[in-house]
Amino acid sequence: MTEQKATNIFWQQAPITRNDRERQTGHKAFTLWFTGHSASGKSTLANATEKALYDRGCHTYILDGDNIRHGLNKDLGFAPDDRTENIRRIGEVANLLRQCGVLNMVAFISPYRSDRRGARELSQDDGTFIEVFVDCPVDVCEQRDPKGIYKKAREGIIKDFTGISAPYEPPENPEIHLQTDKHSPEECIQMIIDYLIRNELISD
Ligand SMILES: Nc1ncnc2c1ncn2[C@@H]1O[C@H](COP(=O)(O)OP(=O)(O)OP(=O)(O)O)[C@@H](O)[C@H]1O
Ligand SMILES: [Mg+2]
Repeated sequence: MTEQKATNIFWQQAPITRNDRERQTGHKAFTLWFTGHSASGKSTLANATEKALYDRGCHTYILDGDNIRHGLNKDLGFAPDDRTENIRRIGEVANLLRQCGVLNMVAFISPYRSDRRGARELSQDDGTFIEVFVDCPVDVCEQRDPKGIYKKAREGIIKDFTGISAPYEPPENPEIHLQTDKHSPEECIQMIIDYLIRNELISD
């Protein structure tokens, strides 16, 4: 838990609520939090899911690890504390997007359970934080290696690499569990859409 540093600060109530915004957009705001090894398929599935939801008229946004590290989190690396701060900030941004009525996809390795729990807690367990475990064995990820970074990690050029030289703590109870070595991207996306319909987060 990050400590509150500032004192004499007061919460300001905004005139427009999340409910108002959801009424305006005609859909719920929620977070699909994709977690998994590098090359497991987080960005591929987040992008395709966004496209499917956007095409249904939903207001959507993607927070993708590599992109956010170019801006908001450019001061952070891959050491454990930096990874934790990376995810803390993204959890807050995802929460802000929910307050804005925006349905958001978050695609970060997010290897630590406690960090993901922190991001989930901001939703007060209201069913709008959906953890999507993008599950794929490291050896398959390594064969895919679309960015060539497993190779660099094996050569020791990249340190603290999840699955090679840094840990990954798999979710124990994810809302959605996708095995991307067994199912095609299309099948995985359908599983996500089915979950959202079943839980009345989008209409059929
Ligand atoms: N079922 C599947 N779902 C998603 N991606 C798949 C699947 N099967 C094969 N792939 C391939 O695996 C690769 C996944 O790469 P992607 O960039 O999406 O991974 P990532 O999890 O975002 O990695 P990183 O953490 O490095 O950003 C792509 O080349 C994609 O085409
Ligand atoms: Mg990615």
